[in-house]
Amino acid sequence: MIPVPHRMLVSMKSTARLTVVGRGVPVAAPMYTSHERFISSTSRRKRLERFPVQPPTPVGVSAAVAAASSSGLAGPDSHSAASEKSQGSLENEKAKPKPTIFDEFALTDRVGIVSGGNRGLGLEMALALCEAGARAVYCLDLPAEPSAEWRQTQAYVEGMEGVDARLEYVSVDVTKQEDVWARVAEIGDREGRMDVCVAAAGILKEHTDCLSYPAKQFKEVLDVNTCGVLYTAQAAGQQMVRFGNKGSIILIASMSGSITNRDHAWVSYNSSKSAVLQMARSMACELGKKDIRVNSLSPGHIYTSMTAAYLDKQPHLLEKWSNLNPMGRIGRPDEMRGVCVWLASDASSFCTGSE
Ligand SMILES: NC(=O)c1ccc[n+]([C@@H]2O[C@H](COP(=O)([O-])OP(=O)(O)OC[C@H]3O[C@@H](n4cnc5c(N)ncnc54)[C@H](O)[C@@H]3O)[C@@H](O)[C@H]2O)c1
Repeated sequence: MIPVPHRMLVSMKSTARLTVVGRGVPVAAPMYTSHERFISSTSRRKRLERFPVQPPTPVGVSAAVAAASSSGLAGPDSHSAASEKSQGSLENEKAKPKPTIFDEFALTDRVGIVSGGNRGLGLEMALALCEAGARAVYCLDLPAEPSAEWRQTQAYVEGMEGVDARLEYVSVDVTKQEDVWARVAEIGDREGRMDVCVAAAGILKEHTDCLSYPAKQFKEVLDVNTCGVLYTAQAAGQQMVRFGNKGSIILIASMSGSITNRDHAWVSYNSSKSAVLQMARSMACELGKKDIRVNSLSPGHIYTSMTAAYLDKQPHLLEKWSNLNPMGRIGRPDEMRGVCVWLASDASSFCTGSE
């Protein structure tokens, strides 16, 4: 194990657990012990056998059919079986099925990285991953030390009932490919797995006329918003392949990748986010067979430090941006929580290459 250099890492909790733990949704269905019992009727078995991929444990209708089978209610003789089984009703009572849907969203024991996680949408999503059960979530960001808001969030996670997650901080510039790869490899060494990547680091510049947009500034925006997203996704993907524990990569694009913000001279930002959309599709196609999913998220206007740079100076923009949205308002950072956890979890296991 190569320890993460202390100056890079702010960790308040014990990091002793380094054992690679097998991946698996903690679905509450202990009564089924074999595949045969799961596929309970001949016709259903035949139907399912045509499909190569089964859930790790029965969920949904498959679980219902398996439950019927194990209680003797399935198949042509189910009526007589039911009456004969009155003696077993006590047993069935004990084995009452439990809902699995929220377990399918659980990130129990998983490890993730979130670039741009020092504040804003990145920090909000990092917290959500912790709440969903992750073992450790590493926030990658520029400052040598994390913000006060980040430290408060870390303390909040530490004190959270029923949550055993670590929120960690790693200082790294996402535009430096080798540094990002090395830092994330160190996280892999330390944790023994990598499951989730949220590439959220991004910048937005002042209005700049497209016809005279300076090359240096254009490259700077693409360097962070496009190249930095690629380097972060690469770094996480390398560790996912290394540990073979599948994975979900979430690239934070923007509505600006698909539409143009009229009256805003943001050619670099819009272009950089368009590239991220295609990057997600492209990486999804390359990595699908390795069981690594890649999706993008395109938030609308959300009030963060990035948008505050505009909204605080030009308050009239709040009404304008709100009116551009079907809901008549701008978003809150916490409104990214659900979708982020869904994409990170097995609840979205057949979703890749989507925006
Ligand atoms: N806020 C919105 O309305 C909105 C809408 C659509 C998309 N987005 C995207 O969401 C992401 C997060 O934005 P936000 O609103 O939270 O902004 P933010 O400015 O609050 O957060 C961005 C974070 O990225 C970090 N960062 C910038 N350059 C970096 C670098 N080179 N290396 C490492 N970290 C770096 C910053 O330090 C900051 O912590 C961005 O990619 C942004 O483009 C935001």
